[in-house]
This record gives sequence, C-alpha cells and structure tokens, in this order.
Amino acid sequence: MTTTPPSASPIIAPSILSADFSRLADELAIVDAARDWAHCDVMDNHFVPNLTFGPLIVGAVRKLTRATLDVHLMMERPWLMVDAFREAGADHIIVHLEACRETREVLRQIRATGAKAGLAVRPATPYAAVAPYLPDLDLLLVMTVEPGFGGQAFMPEMMEKVSAARELRAKKNLAFQIEVDGGIDEHTARTARAAGADVFVAGHAVFRAPDARAALAGLRAAVTP
Ligand code: DX5
Ligand code: ZN
Repeated sequence: MTTTPPSASPIIAPSILSADFSRLADELAIVDAARDWAHCDVMDNHFVPNLTFGPLIVGAVRKLTRATLDVHLMMERPWLMVDAFREAGADHIIVHLEACRETREVLRQIRATGAKAGLAVRPATPYAAVAPYLPDLDLLLVMTVEPGFGGQAFMPEMMEKVSAARELRAKKNLAFQIEVDGGIDEHTARTARAAGADVFVAGHAVFRAPDARAALAGLRAAVTP
C-alpha cells in the first residue's frame, strides 16, 4: 500500500472517439473548458488496426471547444506529424513509447512546439520501460485496454504501473500527470483514482450514455473526494 497522495485535482477527458461526428459541435458542448479536457484519438491502421482522423479534424475540434485538446497519437512515426498536430491546435501531444525510436528526442520536439509532451504505454509494455522517461515528460498515459477501439473492458492489473509512477513522482519530486485510458466508468475511475491517476479518459461512458452531460458529471463526482 502506498500513502503518497495523487497530485492536482482530477480531470475528466471525454474521448470524441465515441461521439457522433455528425453532431460534433453538440457533443463537445458538454465539455467544460474550465475543468475537462477533450481527448482526440488519432489512429493510423498500422500502429493499431483502426483508422480515425488527423490534423484536419483536430483543427475542427479546436474551433468547437476552448477546452485543452489532449491528442493521443496511436500511429507509427509520430514525430513526422508533431508540428502538424500542434498547428491544428493540440495542447498536449501524446506519442506511444512503442512507436518511438529516439523517445527523448520526440518528447523534446513536442515541448519545443509549446505543447505538453506525453508518453503512452500499451498494456504489454512494462513500467520499467517507461520509467527512465518520466523526468522528461508532462503526461504519462497508461492504457487500460488494448489501444484501437472504445468500449472495451478496463484492465485492473494496469494499476500497478499507475502506483509505481506515482511513487516515483513523489520520490523524485516530479510533476507529470498520470492519465488512464480505456474502460473508464464511475467504478473503474474510482479504482484508478485510488491507485494515483489524475486524468481519466472516457469515451463510451460519456458519449454512449443516455445523457452525456449527466454521465460526465457522474464521472467528475466519482473521482472527487
Ligand atoms: C482506445 C482509445 C481511447 C478510447 C477509450 O484506443 O485510446 O481513448 O476512446 O474509450 P472507452 O472509454 O470507451 O474505453
Ligand atoms: Zn486515447
């Protein structure tokens, strides 16, 4: 058991992957720019077996909300697209450790654009693989499902990575935020919050709920003491 508290106030990041893109403006209207982030899942059909959108749609989302745009790149060779996503309006650019060769260089490249730099890890990637980079990033995204699709079941065993990252953050006095992504609902968000997560990405639990605004409020309440 750990006694280290999580860092700042918890943040919910609704993922537009589960939204109705024909009414994206209405869907994004529930996101409160003062406290939520808007999470954008970019998929290239190589790194993951699904294809979504690129900077063009991120640019459209930028016009529809003032919320922090949290852009999760599930793509090969992400460094080639960092500038394009930043220009489209991304506030955070999260690349996958498994897709990087010069990981530190990619993180530096992201920060040089003025964006916050994040690193994501697939379920099979151990904590030890990402630990060396924690002093050099702003966000650690722990995947709690296999990346590629919304609506999958949360993997509780990933909480070991969250707790380990929280411990290291406290020990080394670092300031990165810990984000969980996949299968987050009110119940699993509480589990992840207890393990030390600060940011909770939620797709189906928000946009596939009968009342998305109420579902988002429920998630905020679930992680707030
Ligand atoms: C999955 C994406 C997630 C996805 C989560 O590869 O990275 O952001 O939108 O969706 P839910 O919350 O439905 O599991
Ligand atoms: Zn995501």
